[in-house]
Amino acid sequence: MTPLLKPPTLPCDPTLCDPTLPRVLGTGSRTVLADGRDVRVVQLNNAATTPPFERTVAEVADFLGSYGALHRGAGPRARSTVEAVERAIGRIERFLGQPGGNGLLFTANTSAAINVLARLLPLTADDVVLTSEIEHTSNNLPWRYNTPARVLDVRADDAGALDEAHLEALLAEHAGRVRLLAVTGASNLTGHCPDLAGLAARCHAAGALLFVDAAQLAPHRRIDMAAAGVDALACSAHKIYAPFGLGVLSLPRAVLDRAPADPGGGSIDMVSDTGAVVWSPPAERHQTGTWNATGIVALGASCATILDTGWEAIEAHERALVRHAAAALDAVDGVRLTVPATAYLVDDRIGTFPFTVDGLHHALVAAALEHEHGIEVRAGTICNHRLVRRWAGIDDAGQARVEAAIAVGDRLAGYGIVRASLACHCGAEDVERLVEALTDLAVHGPRLRYRPVPAHETYEPA
Ligand SMILES: Cc1ncc(COP(=O)(O)O)c(C=O)c1O
Repeated sequence: MTPLLKPPTLPCDPTLCDPTLPRVLGTGSRTVLADGRDVRVVQLNNAATTPPFERTVAEVADFLGSYGALHRGAGPRARSTVEAVERAIGRIERFLGQPGGNGLLFTANTSAAINVLARLLPLTADDVVLTSEIEHTSNNLPWRYNTPARVLDVRADDAGALDEAHLEALLAEHAGRVRLLAVTGASNLTGHCPDLAGLAARCHAAGALLFVDAAQLAPHRRIDMAAAGVDALACSAHKIYAPFGLGVLSLPRAVLDRAPADPGGGSIDMVSDTGAVVWSPPAERHQTGTWNATGIVALGASCATILDTGWEAIEAHERALVRHAAAALDAVDGVRLTVPATAYLVDDRIGTFPFTVDGLHHALVAAALEHEHGIEVRAGTICNHRLVRRWAGIDDAGQARVEAAIAVGDRLAGYGIVRASLACHCGAEDVERLVEALTDLAVHGPRLRYRPVPAHETYEPA
């Protein structure tokens, strides 16, 4: 039986909410478990998406009250919409510390933003793009599929830290041809945050640009593109407490001067019968069709909420919670953190914890956490197949077997991990609930009977 999601009894559980931190909608959501217990839902899948800030929802509601045509008509509501969007863009630019020479493009999400960037950069088959072994698929495949460049991976260790010597070696071996290093700002799997300023200095010395996939970094750490020397960056509003379907790409204006990758309405000022066009100004020509004004306003509100709260408070809360969670999870017998707990104490890592439970399929663990404990996590390869494969010790023959099974619809045949991910609305009580649940699972196994649902890579109560 799938538990019913009940409306929250309180907008924010006061036992969890630190009054200095932004209030998040729905932290008091409750669910009825299979055994009849009525429990608060523990939201530990924040790396996939975060719930919205209460202030973001309030500002969006206010904005929608006078919502009108953006760039497509006149009138007081249209004017007010343009002003709200421009104000939000200013807030987003401040949040990112965007360099003066950059412009913003809005897309649907980070994946779309990286694909746009890959198609806009003037790369040739002689060029080299470096990514790394810890990248999310969305910061790997766009470079392979949407550029003619040669794409090479910087190696990473088992805990997801970049091999800096290998980066140096690649820069030296391909000197003069490396145009870009595309690297994550914080890993969606290991939580590792590379030193962006150091990477920028190396890239620039080699004549390359630094692109940062900030999908996971943006909600957890102050970003200052200008100070760090980051040339281009992408992130997703749905991970920054503003789930209204927006992605952001900050990129050098020089790239924006090019013809658009996706021409159409809004990207042109004039079209003649022969098809010749006068493109719109660079800041507009790449955003074909009607913009997601609500998404931009929502993200602007979340950025302002974080900046008004102050990164010091958010980072201090999250860093303390990460240390607590690493130690607490590490102490559960039968649970194996695939990134050692000590890595969270010595490196800069956001609260993203991959783990397995001895003897249990990762998807079964996630199902039991949901149905028996009201805890939300994610399980699988989590768009980081190569690192998870390495952790699982799958050789080429094993990989071939897995691929063959998945190709015929058995998604449960794949290897995987469970991921618990924290955000600023999480507290020690959430970690305790997870630890209790995992302890129970490791000792007794699932208490319900489950049936596999291979098509959805999940298990459901039988
Ligand atoms: C590091 C990283 N990059 C890119 C993405 C893709 O983001 P989106 O799903 O918003 O396109 C994700 C999503 O989880 C991510 O964690």
